[in-house]
Amino acid sequence: MRKKVTIVGSGNVGATAAHWIAAKELADVVLLDVIEGIPQGKALDLLQAMPIEKRDCHILGTNNYSDTANSDIVIITAGLARKPGMSRDDLLNTNATIMSGVVGQAVAASPNAILIIVSNPLDAMAQTAFKQSGFPRERVIGMAGILDSARFRTFIAQELDVSVENVTAFVLGGHGDTMVPLSRYSTVAGIPITELIEPDRLAEIENRTANGGAEIVKYLKTGSAYYAPSAAAVEMVEAILKDKKKILPCAAYLQGEYGIHGLFVGVPCKLGAKGLEKIIEIKLTPEEQAALQRSADSVKELCTVIGVA
Ligand SMILES: NC(=O)c1ccc[n+]([C@@H]2O[C@H](COP(=O)([O-])OP(=O)(O)OC[C@H]3O[C@@H](n4cnc5c(N)ncnc54)[C@H](O)[C@@H]3O)[C@@H](O)[C@H]2O)c1
Repeated sequence: MRKKVTIVGSGNVGATAAHWIAAKELADVVLLDVIEGIPQGKALDLLQAMPIEKRDCHILGTNNYSDTANSDIVIITAGLARKPGMSRDDLLNTNATIMSGVVGQAVAASPNAILIIVSNPLDAMAQTAFKQSGFPRERVIGMAGILDSARFRTFIAQELDVSVENVTAFVLGGHGDTMVPLSRYSTVAGIPITELIEPDRLAEIENRTANGGAEIVKYLKTGSAYYAPSAAAVEMVEAILKDKKKILPCAAYLQGEYGIHGLFVGVPCKLGAKGLEKIIEIKLTPEEQAALQRSADSVKELCTVIGVA
């Protein structure tokens, strides 16, 4: 039997995630939204691309959670996206209300699913979904670090004029402004980038990465990035459905790892068929540990405002 992935929120990120899943023939997809017609229209359109792309995926658009029953994975992208001048945190209260509502309905229909949270502010929304679902932490994972590190990898590859395939990058911490890029663990064909890029230039690239989302919002004006974010969520889907045991930077609920208790923070995670199979702990310098703690503190602040700390 084919695997089933539900995507809640059929806007830019949700619909594009459906596109990547179908293009990779990973699973059947259910696209859900509150707006009538949008998920149905997008799903039918994508379904009609399947003969051309030679992919056997069924894609269904719906406003009804009964169609999502027994999904293996539920990706949640429902909620508002940023407009110019807005921070991710400005979305907090509205998206927390939306997140609580959709998680309750999604988990009732798919009690064994693994949840991948995408809506912003990411870490606080993952915490909301975790508390609302009652799922173990292995089955609630937030997407942010893959995107942040992909942005970092893109800029490093551009800087050195090398293939993106040669570049690995490592980021920790909350999504965006408070992320902690670990340049000494980021490499080009195994060579630490600290040996290839001067410190001042590297600091500029790190800064551009941390503000990578805002740079795109400024161009788009009516919304935020969605090609790379959806590709990042689908990399998590693939790691789980294919039980790849892939180590990826994701937001996970920490229970003492890195000295942080009871909060979602971006850390290296092993993803496989069980979802979050392991959190990888690495030794941090005092400065890196302090930056991670600052990132966790800002996640805690948001979680306190919406009562999920
Ligand atoms: N984690 C990340 O790295 C990352 C990256 C990009 C975007 N995001 C976030 O993802 C979210 C979606 O972004 P987008 O660009 O797709 O926005 P979008 O506005 O294009 O789509 C959001 C969709 O959610 C739907 N929605 C709203 N309330 C709903 C509900 N109760 N149930 C079902 N659907 C509902 C809307 O109708 C809309 O179609 C935003 O919060 C954005 O900030 C996160």
